[in-house]
Amino acid sequence: MCRPDHFEVCYSINPWMNPAEPVDRALALSQWETLRSTFEKYGHHVDLVPGEPGLPDMVFAANSGLVVGDRALSARFTHPERAAEGPAYHQWFTQRERFELACAQEINEGEGDFLLVGEHILAATGFRSSLAAHREVARFFDLPVVSLELVDPRFYHLDTAMMVLDDANIAYFPPAFSAASRAMLAELYPDAIVATDADAVVLGLNGVCDGHNVFLSDKATDLIATLRANGYNPVGLDLSELLKAGGGVKCCTLEIHDDPRSEPSAAA
Ligand code: ARG
Repeated sequence: MCRPDHFEVCYSINPWMNPAEPVDRALALSQWETLRSTFEKYGHHVDLVPGEPGLPDMVFAANSGLVVGDRALSARFTHPERAAEGPAYHQWFTQRERFELACAQEINEGEGDFLLVGEHILAATGFRSSLAAHREVARFFDLPVVSLELVDPRFYHLDTAMMVLDDANIAYFPPAFSAASRAMLAELYPDAIVATDADAVVLGLNGVCDGHNVFLSDKATDLIATLRANGYNPVGLDLSELLKAGGGVKCCTLEIHDDPRSEPSAAA
């Protein structure tokens, strides 16, 4: 995670961002601190990447890259406003010697557009990451990638329209995807949780699930009820200031995934 010390909305690269609307950075910081401490309270370890002046969106650490097992691929951003985040995050990855690291050659916004579900990666294109990036990810991680197309600019990253629940299931908002992608998702995930419009437009799907606890917007009330009915423990959080940049819980969080093909280790 990256503390929003330099957070502001001073440009617009998605429909949520309006530079004319004031942002309360102190409130953003306290909402983000609550997210971080909530992860820790539920037993998760959080590493911090230092934010950099002039990179207001760096708080959205999910976009920094993709990490699976001992391999990490750092991002290459679509917009010039965020381009310098690529090398800034890459620098942080280099300090983690357990990673075999590369920098994406294709436009690749990390876990914003690439979500690991079991032994597959679901990947989006349409607004940010390219199809060529999907192929690069498949080669780099040696994992099958399923390409999906996003069609609604409010849901410009995959993680704004889909949440991974476990190795075999997801929650998602079908209207964010092209007809062909919707058909593919319906076939791959017949038991998926389908989010309502009301959940989707508060970026309720932009959450993190650890297999039981689901960290998500407290405004996604339908999704919270459905998750609870399905045996999950939803943990609602208010990230209203970060939503002004089009981000939520998942955007603020890069997950360090174990390799799904390796035996579970005895180590904690
Ligand atoms: N303002 C940022 C952008 O448009 C928000 C990024 C949100 N991150 C995410 N993983 N969806 O790029």
